Amino acid sequence: MRIKGEISLPGDKSISHRALMFASLTDGECVIHNISTGEDVESTRKCLAECDIQSVKSGNTVRIKGGVFSNPDKPLNCGNSGTTIRLLAGLLAGKRITAEFTGDDSLAKRPMSRIIDPLTEMGVVIESINGHIPFTIKPKELNGISFVPSVASAQVKSCIMLAGLGAIGQTVIDENVKTRDHSEIISKELGAPVSSNGTISINPLSRPLQPFEINVPGDPSSAAFFAAAAALIPNSSITIKNVLANPTRIGFFQVLKKMGGGVEWQNMRKECGESVGDVHVFWEPLNGIDITSELVPSVIDELPIIAVLATQADGPTTVSGAEELRVKECDRIRAVCENLLAMGGEVIEKKDGFIINQCNTLYNTNIKTYRDHRIAMSFTVAGLLTDARNTLDDEDCINISFPEFHKVLTQVMG
Ligand code: S3P
Repeated sequence: MRIKGEISLPGDKSISHRALMFASLTDGECVIHNISTGEDVESTRKCLAECDIQSVKSGNTVRIKGGVFSNPDKPLNCGNSGTTIRLLAGLLAGKRITAEFTGDDSLAKRPMSRIIDPLTEMGVVIESINGHIPFTIKPKELNGISFVPSVASAQVKSCIMLAGLGAIGQTVIDENVKTRDHSEIISKELGAPVSSNGTISINPLSRPLQPFEINVPGDPSSAAFFAAAAALIPNSSITIKNVLANPTRIGFFQVLKKMGGGVEWQNMRKECGESVGDVHVFWEPLNGIDITSELVPSVIDELPIIAVLATQADGPTTVSGAEELRVKECDRIRAVCENLLAMGGEVIEKKDGFIINQCNTLYNTNIKTYRDHRIAMSFTVAGLLTDARNTLDDEDCINISFPEFHKVLTQVMG
């Protein structure tokens, strides 16, 4: 078996969330093509609808009308989606909306004080139990703040940017480590009063944004699974077309290349301010590398699949400075180490990452996904290295980001 062919993927999840939220700030109908098909982005669309920002979905296109927000009648259920809850809290605070935020068991474990604290500093009144969901925001006039996030998080940065658009005075954000910059890019494209040159400055939005039409580039985090499969299985070669190539998002492809994998970007272009290209990935022998904290934000969602690559690399691969992985959809350090060990891998778990050694033989086994979509997909790909396949305790969680995953995988398996 080898991986081959040419594929295109549904739109990037991060840009899809932002396209919906920025559309809500316009005064007309926006059209979003190739929107992410995952449940997370549907959570954002449904929560906006609860606030009277209505949209219609037909295939992978959403038509959404911006305008006047209303207080939702019931708690906003953000499902599994950290991006929905954190960005929406900022957006709705800026719109002086009263809302209660809830979500699933995974979201209940995730830290919200990272947005509650700066929003409170801006003047938002927030009731929460120990910085977790459910929490309620109450309308209050917001003031701009100077903010240095204590965690490298695009969700936190974007929350404060969206709140800043509805605040009085300027908000200034200084990131210690640069994180994905889709909020900055879409702001600039739409003429929102945001500037970024290392420091991000946000001024109040004095009038609605112009309605827009965009085509969301393919999700590089979804592309990583097929690229990894091609890099793991000898004689494989795959081209993934229309992939988002924003420098803050292609850390996986840079890591793969550094590990010796065949990676070539072609047909580079700009769409709606974002870099896009076609990426050709082919099998070459892999070597282990060290991934340290500066690189972590650009591979934060891809570290589980990088761990799978590491099992086939000559020499150890180390990941450090990645404690954020412990507060993702599950504790991804624990989930990666536990499942690789169960497959016969050679793994050492660290507080802030892991060390993985080459392992010539992996065995198929029962995988504990912890209902985390990226663990499920990573260990489906890991199963391709065994005689049979892995059995997941939950397949449905894949729908959180990528319902088409199995269909596309079958398509590229020759
Ligand atoms: C995202 C930011 C990242 C990432 C998540 C999507 C975003 O989270 O893991 O999947 O769209 O802003 P953090 O900002 O918490 O690191």
